[in-house]
Amino acid sequence: MFWEKYSYSLIKRKVFDALSKNTNYRTENILGIPGTFLDIDIFYDDAPFLKDAPFLSTLIANPNHIGVHTLGDEHEDFFAGTHEIEKDLIKICAEEIFGAEPYSYDGYVASGGTEANIEAIWIYRNFYLQEYKAKMKDIAVVYSADTHYSIPKALDLLHLKGIEIDVHPTNREILIKDLEQKIELTLANGIKYFIVNVNMSTTMFGSVDDIDKITDFLNLLHVNYKLHVDGAYGGFILPFTSLKTSFSFTNKNITSFSIDGHKMLQAPYGTGIFLIRKEFMQYVCTNEAGYVKGKDYTLCGSRSGANAVCVWMILRIHGSVGWTVKMKQLVDKAASISETLTEWGIKHYRHPDLNIVTIDANYISTELAHKYHLVPDSHDEQSKWFKIVVMPHVKPGIIDNFLSELKNEQ
Ligand SMILES: Cc1ncc(COP(=O)(O)O)c(C=O)c1O
Repeated sequence: MFWEKYSYSLIKRKVFDALSKNTNYRTENILGIPGTFLDIDIFYDDAPFLKDAPFLSTLIANPNHIGVHTLGDEHEDFFAGTHEIEKDLIKICAEEIFGAEPYSYDGYVASGGTEANIEAIWIYRNFYLQEYKAKMKDIAVVYSADTHYSIPKALDLLHLKGIEIDVHPTNREILIKDLEQKIELTLANGIKYFIVNVNMSTTMFGSVDDIDKITDFLNLLHVNYKLHVDGAYGGFILPFTSLKTSFSFTNKNITSFSIDGHKMLQAPYGTGIFLIRKEFMQYVCTNEAGYVKGKDYTLCGSRSGANAVCVWMILRIHGSVGWTVKMKQLVDKAASISETLTEWGIKHYRHPDLNIVTIDANYISTELAHKYHLVPDSHDEQSKWFKIVVMPHVKPGIIDNFLSELKNEQ
């Protein structure tokens, strides 16, 4: 895995160069687009600092990145300059982070992990409907009990049946026996097509589903499945902190990934990334999008080009080497919290390559959890777990204060 680190001045030059290749609402004759630059009473474009602010300048120029630009040359050319930056971003994610062969994938910057997960399930549902003439009742979506709620949301929107697999109460691993029983029962009930969601870090625990065990079983039974990896949380961390993972496009069992820029990457909200092997986006092509050159394949439609530019800038300012160091630092902090908890006999869960520490609610008072803004597994029922997420704002002093108060409670 390698992508080059750029200096800030090079990044600035490349973004302003890309903007100069976009159609400019201020200087060109544009009569047909229902879009324009941002409101000038608030976002005046002669603010002196803008010449040194590539992201804000892109935000104000307001390029629309509607559509999917990896699909070929047939897409909106008004904003071709910043589309190229998005293409470089998708290339870094697909080829460098997830080991794809050049030109073997498509992808775009979605509104977030929720959209990217729904997009995947939408694609696979339509794939089965179109390629296998499946009926809706023939398709089921498989996911673990610790899966993010965007998957049940997708089932509701797409009218699909869900099969939830139990997880071990302590180590949070998918119970393979439960998977086997439920899949066999589902097959016996006549369901033929499966969409499998595998978590590359769950939201509450940072647990990582054992993809090899899952796919070994499915392949053994010759189950017809398409597999999506929800890396919304773990996608920008696990590939950098784990020595060996099966979460890569070199793994033939995987067809798509979601990864969120607006989590670990500290990008603004609206920066989920969806990646999928070639020849799949077509199943969600909206042919009625006649006025959009190249048609639309996304759930969201219009989307801000500034978001793509921003994620690209963050990845480029660090380079792959800098990014690895940054992620390892977060994991080190989480490891040291976990070691202290273990020493004090405080029950908790932590995956060795992630930055989440989830404490058993029997070992912490609700007051202390509230004081430090720990997130519970449930706001409706009695919480069973409270999680710490080690982000860049989590400084050693805060950790020390929290731990000493926690120790006093034991
Ligand atoms: C594993 C996982 N998937 C999906 C999502 C949804 O992401 P978003 O809130 O960006 O839509 C999250 C958010 O926390 C997540 O942790």
